[in-house]
Amino acid sequence: MSKCITVGLIGYGTVGKGVVRILENNQKIVLRKVGKHIKIKSICDLNPIDRPELYVKNFKDIIKDPEIDLIVELIGGYEPARSIIIEALKAGKNVVSANKAVLAKYWDQIFTTAQDYKKSIYYEASVGGVIPVVQGLNEGLAAEEIFEIKGILNGTTNFILSKMTKEGLSYEDALKSAQEAGFAESNPAFDVDGIDTANKLAILASLAWGGWIKVKNIAVKGISDLNIKDVNLSKRIGNIKLIGSAIKTKNGIDLSVCPCLINKSNTFSTVENEYNAVLIKGKDSGDVLFYGKGAGQGPAASAVVSDIINLSKFIVTNTAGIVTDVIYDRKKKIKILPAGQSRSAYYLRFTVVDKPGVLSKISGILGNNKVSIASLSQPNKQGDYADVVIITHETSLSHLETALRQINALKSIVKSKPVKIKIENPS
Ligand code: HSE
Repeated sequence: MSKCITVGLIGYGTVGKGVVRILENNQKIVLRKVGKHIKIKSICDLNPIDRPELYVKNFKDIIKDPEIDLIVELIGGYEPARSIIIEALKAGKNVVSANKAVLAKYWDQIFTTAQDYKKSIYYEASVGGVIPVVQGLNEGLAAEEIFEIKGILNGTTNFILSKMTKEGLSYEDALKSAQEAGFAESNPAFDVDGIDTANKLAILASLAWGGWIKVKNIAVKGISDLNIKDVNLSKRIGNIKLIGSAIKTKNGIDLSVCPCLINKSNTFSTVENEYNAVLIKGKDSGDVLFYGKGAGQGPAASAVVSDIINLSKFIVTNTAGIVTDVIYDRKKKIKILPAGQSRSAYYLRFTVVDKPGVLSKISGILGNNKVSIASLSQPNKQGDYADVVIITHETSLSHLETALRQINALKSIVKSKPVKIKIENPS
């Protein structure tokens, strides 16, 4: 065994640069925790970098370098990230990755390869930035039967929603400032359309229930069509947050990603800007809440360096990958609850003609579809039209969707498509 742990880094963007900085600045901490120094030997990127002495053009040269113990994949996206991870594991390297998209999509292939080749892959930075939620779920809550996972899992959307709610910024301006702060994915559609949250939820749910929960099983809705009007009209109740939710029900796991109205008194309502929060409910643990910065160079790079340090402890003792660090059973089939069967209360807004009989038509259709009304208000009027806001009691999503389709078909009274926002109060 060499004098130090040798790392090859593939991808030298915002997070990659942060990793090099933290690792080089914190060698005393590394030595205390690992007993050896950790040295970055090579860095691969598409373009030449500010560390020419470490630069390698072809990632394959890093994978086949016999001196390298550990490969860090930080390029993001699906390819060549998937190939890099798979080839690295097959070449006998341990891997650290922050790539939630590739993990969620190729979970089976990645963990099967890791198990077959007896190597480890660590991925703490893939979910919740610096929050140690992967380790928390895998190790801290190892004894638990998990009932529920709910989280604000995307820093960019939370930042946008905070700016819209607190500063009245338009969606476009808020997105621009999230991009300037370096939170957003290279394609921000991944953030705002909820895909990034769905990838992270799929990872947590797969870990919690020991199989592979696919993103295609998650009902996903993002925030890009959220109207500032609903942010303002719902303010008296609470704040809108993009929530990823996975709940174990007797008929299967209920999975969703959607903007939710969170009561003012709920902790999740106070999670602002790029912060994330994850609530995990275990049988004996009860509620466990994780909170911290979910996006940005420092938090993401810190989580990657933690993985490098933690994995290096096993490399030093030659046990990386021998002690299986993910309980993944490729044969395990997990039952998923069909989206329509999920139940919740909802905020509804109808922009309708302000004349007698309209409210009774709407409430009649809701009632006929077993949707019960908890409260109703008409907060404003513009010309001949008025907004009607209804809060429902808990209802089945499929019943509600049928009712909304019928109401939307009343073209003579309904001005625009009814808005529905799930009401969620993680306890
Ligand atoms: N774009 C991601 C976010 C970065 O906003 O949360 C961290 O995964």
